[in-house]
Amino acid sequence: MKVHGQPTRTVWLEADGATVGIIDQTRLPHAFATLRLRTLEEVAHAIRSMQVRGAPLIGATAAYGVCQALRVEASDEALARACAVLLATRPTAVNLRWALEEMRRALQPLPPGERVAAAYARAAALCDEDVAINRGIGTQGLRLLEAAWERKGRKGRVNVLTHCNAGWLATVDWGTALAPVYLAHEAGLPVHVWVDETRPRNQGASLTAWELGQHGVPHTVIADNVGGHLMQHGEVDLCIVGTDRTTARGDVANKIGTYLKALAAKDNGVPFYVALPSPTIDWTLEDGVRDIPIEQRDGTELTDISGRLPSGEVVTVRVTPEGSPVANYGFDVTPARLVTALITERGVCPASPEGLLSLFPERRPAR
Ligand code: MRU
Repeated sequence: MKVHGQPTRTVWLEADGATVGIIDQTRLPHAFATLRLRTLEEVAHAIRSMQVRGAPLIGATAAYGVCQALRVEASDEALARACAVLLATRPTAVNLRWALEEMRRALQPLPPGERVAAAYARAAALCDEDVAINRGIGTQGLRLLEAAWERKGRKGRVNVLTHCNAGWLATVDWGTALAPVYLAHEAGLPVHVWVDETRPRNQGASLTAWELGQHGVPHTVIADNVGGHLMQHGEVDLCIVGTDRTTARGDVANKIGTYLKALAAKDNGVPFYVALPSPTIDWTLEDGVRDIPIEQRDGTELTDISGRLPSGEVVTVRVTPEGSPVANYGFDVTPARLVTALITERGVCPASPEGLLSLFPERRPAR
């Protein structure tokens, strides 16, 4: 996608062939700043502190973290240590585990002397695969937006509600939930996005609004609690969200508050779609509510809020009373029964074991 008109990915290799470049997403929307990551520790910090975030981008960046570790030492122990350090950065998004397993599978059989070059090659390939997958999700999801447009008799605009940021900033490029939106916009379909602010870190208000604005996609930021009201008044044609981990039966973990939007959608007959690349499927889990680990983050994300003063200075202020305890849950799980369909790179399917297996038959247990 583009930043100030220039094609840009969210993670890249610098011209020296070793340093990793990222966009510092903690600075958006007030400043577009990039960072250079040269060590395993810097990559781990970038993921932990959410300078990079979003399930697919976490995985892609972690792959480059392995490269940085192996540059220092390429032994079996160093590879295992790097994977352990990176895996511990964030617990919910399964793309992290998937990317590290991919790296290990590619590197472990090689002699240490060949590992560094192979690691960079595999990390670059993972990034390219992510871009292709998300483009595929866009193509599949575009049909749903076109169908919504037809249902409206090609009048007005197609109103999409999304939660958090599942756009190109959350992936290497294109995004998941927003990929169909970008393709629809490019195709001239009048699409408008309701952007949930997504407290506590405001990824909707800060990131989704920013990237939609960069691409000229009509959008409106709303407080987190507005979606139900809009649905009751026919102002939402469909919801599309991303996911950090989807179980084999179609339960979906995503940013905290997603579940409430799915409940409101069900009550109002609004289709609720979840867009996901296949590496986000955790085939080892069935019951997402019981088994998906939910990240709990530092309470200051809830007690403090930051913003830009008219002078341009970015400041952080406290919004809760001193001493009030807080609990900061990062994600929730939407049960499959509330999901209208899953949008994957291979097609759109029911959120059910059979639905997923119809698109990924290679995952069918051998008899
Ligand atoms: O905590 P974050 O910002 O990493 O959470 C991101 C989300 O919840 C996204 O919706 C999810 O990763 C899907 S991204 C394509």
